[in-house]
Amino acid sequence: MKYKRMPIEVESPEQLGYDSIACNLAESSVSDAVYGNLGLDLGKLVLCYGDHYGKPELREWIASQTEGLKKEEVLLTAGAAAALFIISTSLLEREDHLVVMSPNYATNIETPRAIGCGISYLDLSFENDFRPDLEKLLSLIRPNTRLISITCPHNPTGMMLTPAELKELIRIAEEKDLWLLVDETYRDLTHGTKLPLAASLSQKVISVSSVSKAFGLPGIRLGWIICRNKALQDLFLAAKEQIYVCNSVVDEEIAHSFLLRSASFLPSIQSQVKENFSFLSHWMERTPELEWVKPEGGVVCFPRIRQDASIDVERFYHILNKNYKTYTGPGHWFEQDRRYMRIGFGWPGKAELAEGLKNVRLALKEAVKRS
Ligand SMILES: Cc1ncc(COP(=O)(O)O)c(C=O)c1O
Repeated sequence: MKYKRMPIEVESPEQLGYDSIACNLAESSVSDAVYGNLGLDLGKLVLCYGDHYGKPELREWIASQTEGLKKEEVLLTAGAAAALFIISTSLLEREDHLVVMSPNYATNIETPRAIGCGISYLDLSFENDFRPDLEKLLSLIRPNTRLISITCPHNPTGMMLTPAELKELIRIAEEKDLWLLVDETYRDLTHGTKLPLAASLSQKVISVSSVSKAFGLPGIRLGWIICRNKALQDLFLAAKEQIYVCNSVVDEEIAHSFLLRSASFLPSIQSQVKENFSFLSHWMERTPELEWVKPEGGVVCFPRIRQDASIDVERFYHILNKNYKTYTGPGHWFEQDRRYMRIGFGWPGKAELAEGLKNVRLALKEAVKRS
């Protein structure tokens, strides 16, 4: 494995220091929960090794959200990040080949790169509304392709597959005898109707999710892999056991208690997301320097500075970050031109979002190229 730090992590708000940021539009989740507000008492919790698959009652709860799913098909992991690492390292070796959506959450690309396998990118372009071209995907498949990796709802664009596209992807995976990984970390933040849990539709599909993005619990590192193929799930368990044996029982306990009562937490989380999204949409209409493809899921979008707006992009970021202490996710986090920026609208409160967007507009105006 050849590890390399990813810009999205090096430059993340938590690494910069939250205190040095006035307006944080760089996050990709809803607001972080506060432990004291969860009404938990972990006083009697025994700090033992936990069940290696993960706390059975929590896996049961996760399975109960999808008709017909069994807890045996759910493996808990340390966040979706560990799930993605386990899947890549279990399925890919140097001589294998992967087709992965690009741009993407960096780990979906960087771990296969660290393994050194062959990689083809299914590029999503602004001009094509960030939609995947499935004909193109077919042309990328090689005899040694083992895995197709997609993210839906997509980070950083908020693009959602249609049910027909998901069906077609599964058909391709089954016909070509490949694994299909669907990173569904934002599934509970779908703006319209959720797609079915992909792994429930076929033995060839692996679904990944976590409590980080939709529930605001990234600090407890709790995610999962759902897969109906028992041999594959056992392979993932073998990887998990070699890396860290089992999840933190503290994390499992907090996630379980939260999810049991999620119906009482979700309305306020979802209303903040809805209000913020509506505010952002109106702001975009009144910001002629930017253009976007409206997201259909998740809490991020990926607008870009119009080419003809005559903005000095480096000056823009300098003014935005240094003068206004406001942060977005610049395009290079996703190996895209820095004219693109990811704006996260689920994390900041209303006032911080409004102030941050005001600062983006001011920085754009101040960065106009002088002729
Ligand atoms: C698409 C996607 N997958 C996985 C992750 C990892 O999330 P976590 O490890 O916090 O569950 C992220 C985080 O940004 C993400 O955006």
